[in-house]
Amino acid sequence: MSLIRSEYSASLNFFGSASPSGLTGVYGSPVYVYNENVLRKRCAEMKNLVTGLTVCYSTKANGNPHLLRIIREEGLIADAMSPGEIALLHRAGFKKESINYVCNNVSPEELVLAVRECAHVSVDSLSQLETFGKLSPGSAVMARVNPGIGAGHSDKVVTAGKKTKFGIAPGDFPAMRSILARHQLRLVGLNQHVGSLFMDSEPFLDAAKWLLETAKDFPGLHVLSFGGGFGIPYNKYKNEPRLNLEELSSRFGEMLQSWRDETGFEGQFVIEPGRYVVAECGILLGTVHAVKNNGPTRFVGTDIGFNVLARPLLYDAFHDVELYPQDEEPRTGMMQTIVGNICESGDVLAQGRLLPEMREGDCLGILDAGAYGFSMSSCYNQRLRPAEVLIRKDGSPQLIRRRDHLEELLSYYPE
Ligand code: LLP
Repeated sequence: MSLIRSEYSASLNFFGSASPSGLTGVYGSPVYVYNENVLRKRCAEMKNLVTGLTVCYSTKANGNPHLLRIIREEGLIADAMSPGEIALLHRAGFKKESINYVCNNVSPEELVLAVRECAHVSVDSLSQLETFGKLSPGSAVMARVNPGIGAGHSDKVVTAGKKTKFGIAPGDFPAMRSILARHQLRLVGLNQHVGSLFMDSEPFLDAAKWLLETAKDFPGLHVLSFGGGFGIPYNKYKNEPRLNLEELSSRFGEMLQSWRDETGFEGQFVIEPGRYVVAECGILLGTVHAVKNNGPTRFVGTDIGFNVLARPLLYDAFHDVELYPQDEEPRTGMMQTIVGNICESGDVLAQGRLLPEMREGDCLGILDAGAYGFSMSSCYNQRLRPAEVLIRKDGSPQLIRRRDHLEELLSYYPE
């Protein structure tokens, strides 16, 4: 086994003029590091998927305004799901006309704010449509529908079909029409989202076809949004194949074009990718602080607890691991389980991996951590959330979010 395991990030010159241990030295450990070139490349791939398609970045994947600004420069618009996401999008220069709001069980106050701050507001239940109608009669609204076809890497992220809280089911369309009529609401768009992370486009395309058929029953629509879910290969060191964008592009492109030809639709077709845009531009760096054997298992104890990266605990998600050793001594390969510093046995980052022997003081990198990494981090065990650093196009590092401070933690509590 090779002494090092950093060929992937090295091939991208991911850390630019900095080194992983230099970055943890300056910004603290752990630290989220993003690469601008990778981010711009992924934005461009989504923009070029189908000519004329509007790409609406799903802010929940990563809401750092410095990344959002780059995403805006690349010509994407954005969706928001909370007042906090709207505020971050404003900070990044997104204007009202390029923000769509996707509601789920929101308060009347939040609905009013969304109508004021966003181009389109989509509601996803009859009861929220009723609330919307009472608050904003006569206005334009979008509806999130449930195509009955779900997809995703875990049951927890399948967002269509019978087992999910999302979307208005076709059986409720008659009731939806009467609420729309009662409040003189104009239905201007339909949206759907099958779930997160498909590597095979079939369910996405089936659901897209369903949405196009459904839209025929609702004349006057301007927006049809097909959701996100575009997957990325997390198994980098096994060369997991990428999502076949060429195939998706030609099949999806043809489907949209023939529907335009058939119906004369002149409105917007939209996709809402989150993960695809930001996952691969992020590597989470941390430090090994202890190693121990317990029975047959070698535990590598790091400062990357599930408060910093929740995906492995929450979804059994796989992230590949790199190692940036501090010395040049030979390392043999061995099975190791990488864990964090949180007081729960489930705090496992990577279970039973064959990796070069990891030692105290080593720096390690968790790949593909740019999506649903920092944005899902927490202060559990009263640990402070890490800094975020961007490696700019010229290779220089820039702090784009400082680490939390202990004083901030204390400041929430009245004396
Ligand atoms: N549109 C809507 C309405 C969504 O709910 C989502 C994600 C997206 C778009 C973007 O989906 P993406 O392209 O990122 O798959 N925390 C989970 C993923 C949750 C996704 C939630 N909704 C994870 O870490 O895998």
